[in-house]
Amino acid sequence: MAGWQNEPFKVEGKEGDKKFICMCGKTGNAPFCDGSHKGSDITPAKIEFDRDKTMFVCGCGESSKRPLCDGSHKNL
Ligand code: FES
Repeated sequence: MAGWQNEPFKVEGKEGDKKFICMCGKTGNAPFCDGSHKGSDITPAKIEFDRDKTMFVCGCGESSKRPLCDGSHKNL
């Protein structure tokens, strides 16, 4: 998958929030799924917030922990 940017996206959520992160790379609303994956075998990744917090979502496409950042962008 081609990345969107060479740094993670900061995604803030409140307790109970669910957000769907694009895993196909075709979304026009990175890093969130916009439905562009339809017709493929790829599905978005759901992240759930068990409390109010900030998560860092992979923007470069190289993280081994996608949809979350693992720091791989630092090696680009
Ligand atoms: S648009 Fe990429 S997974 Fe939905």
